[in-house]
Amino acid sequence: MEACVNRLVVVGIGLIGGSLAVALKQAGACKEVIGVARREQTCVDAVRLGVADRAVTSIEEIASELTAGDVIFIAVPTLTVEAILQQIKGCVSSDVTITDGASVKGSVIAAVEAAYGCLPPQFVGGHPIAGSEKSGVEASNPDLYKNHRVIITPTPESGQDHLKRVVAMWQAVGAEVLSMPVDEHDEVLASTSHLPHAIAFSLVDTLAHDSENENIFRYAAGGFRDFTRIASSDPLMWHDIMKANKDSVLTALDLFSENLNRLRSAIASEDSEYLLGVFTRAKAARDHFTKMLTKQAYSPSMQDQEITYTVKPGGSVSGELRVPGDKSISHRSIMLGSLAEGITEVEGFLEGEDALATLQAFRDMGVVIEGPDQGRVRIHGVGLNGLQAPPGPLYVGNSGTSMRLLSGLLAGQQFDSELTGDESLSKRPMNRVANPLREMGAQIDTAEGGLPPVKIKGGATLKAIDYQMPMASAQVKSCVLLAGLYADGKTQVTEPAPTRDHTERMLTGFGYTVERDGAKASLSSGGSLTSTKIEVPADISSATFFMVAAAIAPGSDVTLTHVGINPTRDGVINILRLMGADITLSNQREVGGEPVADIRVKYAPLKGIHVPEDQVPLAIDEFPALFVAAACAEGTTVLTGAEELRVKESDRIQVMADGLVTLGVKAEATPDGIVIEGGPIGGGEVESHGDHRIAMSFTVAGLRATGDIVVKNCANVATSFPTFIELAQQAGIQLAVSEA
Ligand code: S3P
Repeated sequence: MEACVNRLVVVGIGLIGGSLAVALKQAGACKEVIGVARREQTCVDAVRLGVADRAVTSIEEIASELTAGDVIFIAVPTLTVEAILQQIKGCVSSDVTITDGASVKGSVIAAVEAAYGCLPPQFVGGHPIAGSEKSGVEASNPDLYKNHRVIITPTPESGQDHLKRVVAMWQAVGAEVLSMPVDEHDEVLASTSHLPHAIAFSLVDTLAHDSENENIFRYAAGGFRDFTRIASSDPLMWHDIMKANKDSVLTALDLFSENLNRLRSAIASEDSEYLLGVFTRAKAARDHFTKMLTKQAYSPSMQDQEITYTVKPGGSVSGELRVPGDKSISHRSIMLGSLAEGITEVEGFLEGEDALATLQAFRDMGVVIEGPDQGRVRIHGVGLNGLQAPPGPLYVGNSGTSMRLLSGLLAGQQFDSELTGDESLSKRPMNRVANPLREMGAQIDTAEGGLPPVKIKGGATLKAIDYQMPMASAQVKSCVLLAGLYADGKTQVTEPAPTRDHTERMLTGFGYTVERDGAKASLSSGGSLTSTKIEVPADISSATFFMVAAAIAPGSDVTLTHVGINPTRDGVINILRLMGADITLSNQREVGGEPVADIRVKYAPLKGIHVPEDQVPLAIDEFPALFVAAACAEGTTVLTGAEELRVKESDRIQVMADGLVTLGVKAEATPDGIVIEGGPIGGGEVESHGDHRIAMSFTVAGLRATGDIVVKNCANVATSFPTFIELAQQAGIQLAVSEA
């Protein structure tokens, strides 16, 4: 690496400064390290350990040598920074870059101003967010900053060359460099670092003064150790930090004390609702945070992950599989459970990103929700009028169902709300729900073109409408019905073709009357929902991938257990049967108002068909997989009347056509469908465009391919089918996964 720093002068050569020095040297990113330490012995040690090339006890000894390209890194306790700056000011030229590593930036800026009488361009503040329980020059560690964050806090006065040099220096040692204004840095750090340190020191000190302290420390288990690890950090450093960031730390401490007192009262009065509320919300926040760090799940950053599937050609699928819970029913269980009176218990809940987004939205609106724990969720319903204003926008990730159904429900609330989503959802049409809601009297704003975010004004008086849906959409139907719970009169929705009726069924299950008259569903406001038990069946949309897999791969025989076969969702069974698939249903029963069955699929040769248009809404999510079946069938398959596929998580007609063509299949997109010629499937690299169902469909295609199929951008499989990879491998698909 080319040296980005000429000479590095470390003032205060302990863990922080020493680690930067050794890392820079190892990376070949600086020509010489000069250590500065007050104690002679530290200087000797720094050179002996190879941390510094030479070391002196005062910067004045080497100041005259320093020129442009050299960097002084001040790594002394916060309140000593000013004295060091006074020395530097007197002897170091103005073209030498000066930076620091203090945890509080406001006091450093004050120190610079006190020493220089201004903010000189050569100064660029910084704060490496890394540390260790060990301290001193002996603890210097070249890997300390690798994959850690360094926050740079430049001021408007900071010179561009100096700023670039400091950024390059931290990047050279493997750090991720972020930039933040000084005040913001100090506020954020007060909550995320200074407050927990103050609490940890205080807790250990409190217990250490207890007369039974010996026992306490003797029996202190993992929890105490984990919680108080940071109380063994450097006392002088923390003394300085608390004083230097006094105002922000006090604000954070006051907020915490207030909440702790409330918790105390809840314990005193045995207020289970409050205790569970705090603990479930905190657990969710903590798990979420852990997952964010390991980059594996529910978080806006999920999109940033590059997950690639590589499928080896050939093979067959077999065995008994239980795919995760139905996504549509999982969403609705949280929504209706939250609006009910009493505790609703859910089993088989889908712990995928989309349903978790709905769950989090209701937590944000004050609902206490226990779990999910292995598919079990307990929702402490707040009643139709018990939701509270969320603290900020409700982020629903990739989930169109959350955004559209919630729009209806939020239109009837007293508080303002805003729904936001990820990149894919932000391109999906919301006027289909905003328009009927406006007709009902709701005040809703969207971004240009009817796109998210959706902003809903609270306190509107809704009136019932008789809505003729222009498209067959269960999301629109459900949205209007949910708003109808709050509208004056009888809300009626007529659908142009039958769509999934989980909302109607589940409302009935919660004791709310929904009338059905042919294509029209209606309900009146004024009722209430009574808590219930919900068993979520396995999702037929997820089962589809294995049904198609078995239908196309010779030698296959799979049984998918406990699958929801609601007649508004069973289009995939009907279509595959029309194509010649060997499908048998057994163990048919009704669970919590929804029909379920075990579905066995054995390989049989398929033939192309013209898909009956009345099946389209009944198989709306299954087409990407059905297109793969069509590619493996003899003859031509024609789909029409399916323009809705163009506004799903991706344009599923175009994206599938493109991918199939890449794999050598003759496929042609039409405005409202596709024409697919059955024939051999080759290998190649296809793009899922972040659409979970596209990613899984091309994975299944591997069973009949002649070469490897590489599917790009598969992270969003976690939205609906978090266990897809394991189940696919277990069933016999030769799938490998790589992350970047
Ligand atoms: C869903 C309805 C369907 C479906 C989506 C889930 C639901 O959307 O595609 O995955 O849970 O109501 P449309 O109703 O917009 O067709």
